[in-house]
Amino acid sequence: MAANPARKILVTSALPYANGSLHLGHLLEQVQTDIWVRFQKSRGHDCLYVCADDAHGTAIMLTAEKLGITPEQQIANIRLEHERDSAGFLIGFDNFHTTHSQENRFWCEEIYRCLKANDHIASRAITQAFDPEKQLFLADRFIKGTCPRCKTADQYGDNCEACGATYSPADLINPVSAISGATPVQKESTHFFFKLPELETMLKEWLDSDTLQPQVANKLREWTEAGLQEWDISRDAPYFGFEIPGEPGKYFYVWLDAPIGYIASFQHYCERTGHPFDTYWRPGGDTELYHFIGKDIINFHGLFWPAMLHSAGLRTPTAIFAHGFLTVNGNKMSKSRGTFINAGTYLEHLDAEYLRYYFAAKLSSSVDDIDLNLEDFVQRVNSDVVGKIVNIASRCAGFLARGFDNQLTAECAEPELVADFIARGDGIAELFEAREFNKAMREVVAMADRANQYIDEKKPWVLAKQDDRASEVHAVCSVGVNLFRALMTYLKPVLPAMAEKAEAFLACSLDWTALQQPLLGHRLGTFQPLLTRVDPKKVEAMVEASRDATAPASSAAPATTAEVTDTIAFEDFAKVDLRIARIVAADLVEGADKLLRLTLSLGDREYQVFAGIRSAYQPADLVGKLTVMVANLAPRKMRFGVSQGMVLAAGPGGKELFLLEPHEGALPGMQVK
Ligand code: 2FM
Ligand code: ZN
Repeated sequence: MAANPARKILVTSALPYANGSLHLGHLLEQVQTDIWVRFQKSRGHDCLYVCADDAHGTAIMLTAEKLGITPEQQIANIRLEHERDSAGFLIGFDNFHTTHSQENRFWCEEIYRCLKANDHIASRAITQAFDPEKQLFLADRFIKGTCPRCKTADQYGDNCEACGATYSPADLINPVSAISGATPVQKESTHFFFKLPELETMLKEWLDSDTLQPQVANKLREWTEAGLQEWDISRDAPYFGFEIPGEPGKYFYVWLDAPIGYIASFQHYCERTGHPFDTYWRPGGDTELYHFIGKDIINFHGLFWPAMLHSAGLRTPTAIFAHGFLTVNGNKMSKSRGTFINAGTYLEHLDAEYLRYYFAAKLSSSVDDIDLNLEDFVQRVNSDVVGKIVNIASRCAGFLARGFDNQLTAECAEPELVADFIARGDGIAELFEAREFNKAMREVVAMADRANQYIDEKKPWVLAKQDDRASEVHAVCSVGVNLFRALMTYLKPVLPAMAEKAEAFLACSLDWTALQQPLLGHRLGTFQPLLTRVDPKKVEAMVEASRDATAPASSAAPATTAEVTDTIAFEDFAKVDLRIARIVAADLVEGADKLLRLTLSLGDREYQVFAGIRSAYQPADLVGKLTVMVANLAPRKMRFGVSQGMVLAAGPGGKELFLLEPHEGALPGMQVK
């Protein structure tokens, strides 16, 4: 039973760009959100999940142009694909809309009008790079040229991948437009700014209000303490978006209209269904508003968005739930390795519920990254879901069908055990509520172990062979079915399709609100297979189908044991020059959460090495330490600069990543034998 009166909850996940396919990273977020929403619904709350495509911006305009279609056609095509893929993963949006909609235009204009009336909009001329051929202002990422520091050619307008320098596009040598190849000129135009510094007091209170996860609030505090800047919310024509009222040729920047798309999608839902709208967006109501997002977009959701809502007289979110990035086999998703997996490709090979379960087994309330280890994925789904949960039902169903006409006993043979399974629902509900899905799954699997243990002890297959013990078979299998029912109730938010089949078998609803008493004297439906084992061959086929042999090889990160497959000859090993190195400097790398930039000395020479060990070490703790490095690795160009070697570390990852540290007596430059 829902412990409280029904809550009114509105939930969103980030709006995917209408410029490309959904991949498993998008699905991590949609699955996390969907599980939480389904859980709330199962508890009897009025919980709605809305989303939309994020349909505006220069990138979409240019893609459409390249394809020879209009931006409207481009976003319509992508929308069909996005909706198909999300549905394939059983994402139960109550509404999926687009930011290119009349509702969104209305709310953008309305919010802008309020911001302006509150004197929160400034305008002034700024000078930017302009492509004279395309007649287009160029964002930094659309300008390329030679790095002013190290002189490497073909670098993007804001930073050099070879030496790590950051600069403004105006500093590039021989800059060219990445769109037309023309030399950009500097051109002035008027832009509109949201005066964020005016909302500093409000934002500081917001950051201190426990609305955000502690790590997120801390990160945002760093930005506010560095001084809030006015935010440029306009772009010049040509731009695919909404024109700013009264400002011909000026458009709302896509990041202004994207979050407003949450309101627009909800309004579209309300108009379609007659659901109340106002109480969800006006301050002071009894409704709750939650945004699930990735940690890369916390500034938009944690600063700009609440400031805009506040200035417009609208309510701010009840909470923002940020999650970490998805890695596959311990590394960033990579096209060359076949681990950049699109949602559609996954669905061609594997059942969506495998991944839903795996994500649930790994997700928590933290912003830590989530790793999809493909071997662990096969093993865990097969062991937990098929081997333990499904097994309970399949062990009991046959006996009940054959011997007892699918009828459960009128009395429960193990009232305490069944009552305990039902009573544990409250604790599991708390874990779901707090987004500690991994802990909830652990609890459910531990309970499944108990259920299987009970059946193992009673051995109905032995009893069934003895004519006078039929009633015991009946009693044991009826208990087993009741235990299965409780577990499937707790798993329904995670495995909705499997739960539907279980509901047909159990002939009852598996909502949390329906789980109070054991099923007694109850007639079951027909048992049907609930979920088959993951076939590792299909996983391999999915990786092969995702592999892009032409993609540049991704930079290496710590290898996992799963990847250690091939052997190398001794001569190959002998080529590796391992040396003792002293860490003379260790620095954070802006824009790379996992890396540290190490300066290593071999005594006579210094090397710059990027090492993926930031989760385990504070830079200051490393300085002065000795470690082992591969000194003859060919330099690799990374996004942040050239890495001239590799340090050796071991461990499962996260905080447990241990640098190989030499003993006393080792000296920088010494060869490791
Ligand atoms: O980062 C992204 O993919 C954006 N399209 C997310 C937008 S979320 C919200 F603001 F609309
Ligand atoms: Zn450079």
